[in-house]
Amino acid sequence: MSGSFYITTAIDYANGAPHLGHAYEKVLADVIARHARMSRRKVHFLTGLDEHGQKVQQTAQKRGISPQELVDEVAVGFRAMLRDLSISNDDYIRTTEPRHRKVVQDFLSRLHAEGLIFKDRKGGWYSVRQEQFLSDKDRDENGEWPEIFGEVTQTTEENYYFRISKFQSWLVEHIRSHPDFITPRFRQNQVLEFLKEPMNDLCISRPKSRLTWGIELPFDTDYVTYVWFDALTNYYSAVVGTGLWPADLHVIGKDILSPPHAVYWPCMLKALGLEPPRSLLVHGWWTIDRKKASKSEGNAKDSLSVVGIYGADAFRYYLCREMVVGQDADFVLEPPTHSENGKALSDKERKRYKTFARVYQTDLGNSLGNLVNRLLNMVGRSCGGVVPAAGADEDPERSVRLLWGDTRKAYDVAFAEHQVSRALESLWTFINALNAYIETRAPWKLAKSADPADRARLDSCLAHVSEGLRLVGTALLPVMPTTARTLLENIGQSVPADFDRFDWSAAGSGVRVAEKCILFPQVEAPPAPAA
Ligand code: ME8
Ligand code: MG
Repeated sequence: MSGSFYITTAIDYANGAPHLGHAYEKVLADVIARHARMSRRKVHFLTGLDEHGQKVQQTAQKRGISPQELVDEVAVGFRAMLRDLSISNDDYIRTTEPRHRKVVQDFLSRLHAEGLIFKDRKGGWYSVRQEQFLSDKDRDENGEWPEIFGEVTQTTEENYYFRISKFQSWLVEHIRSHPDFITPRFRQNQVLEFLKEPMNDLCISRPKSRLTWGIELPFDTDYVTYVWFDALTNYYSAVVGTGLWPADLHVIGKDILSPPHAVYWPCMLKALGLEPPRSLLVHGWWTIDRKKASKSEGNAKDSLSVVGIYGADAFRYYLCREMVVGQDADFVLEPPTHSENGKALSDKERKRYKTFARVYQTDLGNSLGNLVNRLLNMVGRSCGGVVPAAGADEDPERSVRLLWGDTRKAYDVAFAEHQVSRALESLWTFINALNAYIETRAPWKLAKSADPADRARLDSCLAHVSEGLRLVGTALLPVMPTTARTLLENIGQSVPADFDRFDWSAAGSGVRVAEKCILFPQVEAPPAPAA
């Protein structure tokens, strides 16, 4: 594959500190971006901050600072998170930047000039928390407003509306004829279901009497624009004039698929004569102790503290391995005391729980870290630190090579579908097979044998483990960039910039390896349990 690849994440709300959900989405997009770079695509990776809206205005007011001061402060925190997680974004957009405001206003002017934005007086129910008008469809089965809307008030006001309904049938057809537009595919139904009902035209203005912290309508300075109209435009405003549009992939959470990304955004673009993005990748939610990680729950801070303790790469591994893209997953720092149906768990049952510490110790320390050290040890002891050329070629060697072929195929297919957890799963099957191969060959016994056939087997074993680890290191570069680099360097390999040498070869032989390396140091104090 070649050509350009423009990938984005959602831009995070600037009304609080970053949390696990934000971290995951940026890591997922980063892994895909790094993989695409290694696949020789010209990658442009964008992320950023969503800085306007009522909540920012309110939070700033409460703290007695200006909204701009607040978002400047919040931006520092989010950018620090990106740095701490080794995120390789090429650009960072903030919606208060002039380059963004200009494009939003240009979009609004064009739609207004074409008669696609009109003014109307409507009365209705308004949710301050969600910054949107509600209809009776939004009530729950008791006729009440669901909790997520917060305070709901009745207002009558003049506003501007985008004739989004004009594009409804185009959108349905587009979704049906582009099965990769919404991925994973099971998410499509939810959107098509929403589109069965005739759509209301979208209110895209807020009177300044209520909200001043936004982008002014270019044709009526008494209003600012609706946050979603503003926020979605970031994907385009960041690359205007570069030829990068349409975006190849918008990575987003399931809560902002429908209607913002699957309905508003493609209709806005269609109305402007621009192409829709090629694909949306919709991930699920992280929960902590089975509750959604969020600012309001305040439960997500501890989960980011593990980055400081175990390092970014271990954290990236855990997130990528434990969440199937599209599904929800639970981030476990401490094993629960009770099962989901309320039964108390025994110590033995609790020990089996896949906590962060346990995944670190088993998958990373035992399976991978020890494997590397076993190789370095044996090459040091029996071969003067230089990996020998393969000698004997028997069934165990053939099995290892065959398994690499399957692993590589599974890895490529998984990445083609952005299913990172599956790629890691097959990689760990291979890593465990390398460990089992060593057990089978028992090189420490072969080293003691005077039989030249055993010497040939020993050489083969070391050459195969070395080559296997070169391939593992290469495959891990997108997920654990620093660790994979260290691994490769310690086994005497250069760090590849691409997947050109991703087939089994003799490259594992003839190289000088390090004496020892600690990829995953023992962690003394496990993090405090989530409060
Ligand atoms: O929605 N698990 O911002 P946001 C996984 N500004 N992902 C989560 C999550 C969790 N527990 N909590 C949040 C916004 N996210 C808008 C986006 S885009 C033009 C504007 C994800 O800070 C969420 O699904 O509430 C979204 O994709 C991203 O974090 C930012 O959420
Ligand atoms: Mg949110």
